[in-house]
Amino acid sequence: MERHPGGAEATLRLVRLAGLEPPYRIIDLGAGSGEGVRLLRSLGFEAAGIDLEPGADVERGDILAPPYGAASFDAALSQCAFYLTGAPEAALCRASELLRPGGRLLFSDICRGGEPWLRAAARDAGLEPGFVGDDTGNWKSYYINALWRGEAVPPPEGARQADFRYLYAVLIKKEVL
Ligand SMILES: C[S@@+](CC[C@H](N)C(=O)[O-])C[C@H]1O[C@@H](n2cnc3c(N)ncnc32)[C@H](O)[C@@H]1O
Repeated sequence: MERHPGGAEATLRLVRLAGLEPPYRIIDLGAGSGEGVRLLRSLGFEAAGIDLEPGADVERGDILAPPYGAASFDAALSQCAFYLTGAPEAALCRASELLRPGGRLLFSDICRGGEPWLRAAARDAGLEPGFVGDDTGNWKSYYINALWRGEAVPPPEGARQADFRYLYAVLIKKEVL
């Protein structure tokens, strides 16, 4: 089961917004149960995934120290994972390193500091924001449902902050001059 607001439809929205076409090579960072990896493969992409607690079709690996060389991927996907590392700025930097110039990071997550934080952190990581959307309302419904099912503990640190947002974005790796 996906563990991010919007499920497969939210993943497909990011793929559409990024304009990805198979057979791109894509890494799912914090891939969890592997739903994202299998969805991407079903679309014809060459997809892999890493997670500290990997499900089927996912390798064990740390987002903050990914086991791949620089510029190994055309795109990366990460949903609801960077914030949980405790070091989202570093996670953005590591993701950026994995991308070829012009490659896309398909991102959705909690952002303390909202859109200004995401835009600044992305630029510091060498990523240009191509699209940024706000899914905070959807995230709140998703989170409340997870609480009722006993799958979440209230509330995640940062969610009480006035500038907390749940954002989805396509971030583009800067071309080398
Ligand atoms: C809320 S789940 C989201 C999983 C998946 N992206 C999805 O949407 O279904 C967050 C995932 O991030 C993983 N994670 C957290 N910190 C990580 C790290 N440093 N390296 C790799 N995975 C990490 C967790 O193990 C968990 O599977």
